Amino acid sequence: MKTQEQWIINGTLLTQDQKRRALKANLQLINGHIVAITKRLPRRSGRTTIIDASGLTILPGFVQAHVHLCQTLFRNQADDMELLDWLSKRIWVMEGAHTPATLRASARLGIHELLSSGTTCILDMGTVRHTDAIFTAVKESGIRANVGKCLMDNPKTNPPYLCESTNSAIQEALSLFEHWNGAENDRIRASFAPRFVISCTDQLLREVADLAKAQNALIHTHASENRKEIEFVKKLVGTENVEYLHKIGMTSPRLVLAHCIWLNKKEKLILKKTGTHTVHCPSSNMKLASGFMPAQELRSMGINVALGADGAPCNNNLDMFREMRLAALIHKPSGGPKTLRAQEVLDMATRDGAKALSWFDDIGSIEVGKKADLIALDLQKPSNTVPAGSETNSEMLASSVVYSAQSSDVKWAMVDGTVVAQNGKVLAIPAKQLMRDVRQAQLAIRKTIDYDSSTDIGQRGEITRSSAAKAD
Ligand code: GUN
Ligand code: FE
Repeated sequence: MKTQEQWIINGTLLTQDQKRRALKANLQLINGHIVAITKRLPRRSGRTTIIDASGLTILPGFVQAHVHLCQTLFRNQADDMELLDWLSKRIWVMEGAHTPATLRASARLGIHELLSSGTTCILDMGTVRHTDAIFTAVKESGIRANVGKCLMDNPKTNPPYLCESTNSAIQEALSLFEHWNGAENDRIRASFAPRFVISCTDQLLREVADLAKAQNALIHTHASENRKEIEFVKKLVGTENVEYLHKIGMTSPRLVLAHCIWLNKKEKLILKKTGTHTVHCPSSNMKLASGFMPAQELRSMGINVALGADGAPCNNNLDMFREMRLAALIHKPSGGPKTLRAQEVLDMATRDGAKALSWFDDIGSIEVGKKADLIALDLQKPSNTVPAGSETNSEMLASSVVYSAQSSDVKWAMVDGTVVAQNGKVLAIPAKQLMRDVRQAQLAIRKTIDYDSSTDIGQRGEITRSSAAKAD
């Protein structure tokens, strides 16, 4: 392979390194890796690419540790409901209607939004069928992702159109793992993603625990998001949710739990003792009326807390700037103004996300030896001025990013040293064609489900699979 040298010069680096340094310096990249952080300028040579970042702030790209790309098409079609109704009456019906083509459109729509708003790495839960289409969209787009096929095998709790046998669910997850894990120079990884305890048999969860251990793979699931969910789990398994996950051998630093709102003291201690990761999804938690994650308490106990937008229909966008701002705001009225300070939230959005995904050796901060997954923000616009004279004050830069910045401030995003998004455009996903595909996919899904379109969206009752869809 030919050596490829790049420089990013004249920018301000908000490194998110161990000391959280902010400095004016240039970055030298070789083959997508950061090899020098230096005041030195490159010697001009024909083969060196130079990106001028004058006036821009360079950060590690955001890591979202809980996303459902398969749900992006369903945005604004499932509002103002609680989790279990939202799932059974809307989301599962629509997820069950996916074809490879509609899933591809959904994934590309989500990735477009993520990359153009500064998220360069995700942990995605996939869906029950056709998850290969998500991996392919990831591959083509240039985003870094760990994707797991969603596992749902309990016939008593899942709709028949989304329920698989334990064996076929696990076999497909394994074959996706074998095909995709480590692909594209390790930009793509695969995980095991049981949906949540309610959707899965005890046998499946135990097998997943063993398999993930043998493969050194992540397990990604939802846990203790909603009060009715934990009551249901208690009825199913006889213990609290996280206690059960611990008992069956799931908890470890390879387990990533989305939400973790309704935990007792014993469960929090289990998370701490086992190094299990948690993911805060503040927009989703507010919109589904799920509750407030004890994020500051978990962090103070030494439990890792990452951030994620969750799916488009429970948010209703995938923009990390809004997630960071909300995380920093919603806990202050109960915990006081120092709760989840801007720097802590920026850590959750970068370093801690990378840790949750077992990817911190490669990404999550700007340091020599790491991969160049970077974003450049224009924080000098009239909407968002960094105070004059404080251009390298890391605390004020973190404030600027968390409290005031917005996705339109992202000038470019790069993964593995390759620019993948620029000025709101995603280079591998032309917007015009994307929106044509999205429209077609939304219409195709609409055809397979019955909507009572004469009533208000908030008033609609259950949506069901149409007879045409039931027949296939
Ligand atoms: N719990 C089980 N499935 C889901 C899902 O798709 N979204 C959310 N927010 N919670 C879940
Ligand atoms: Fe989710």
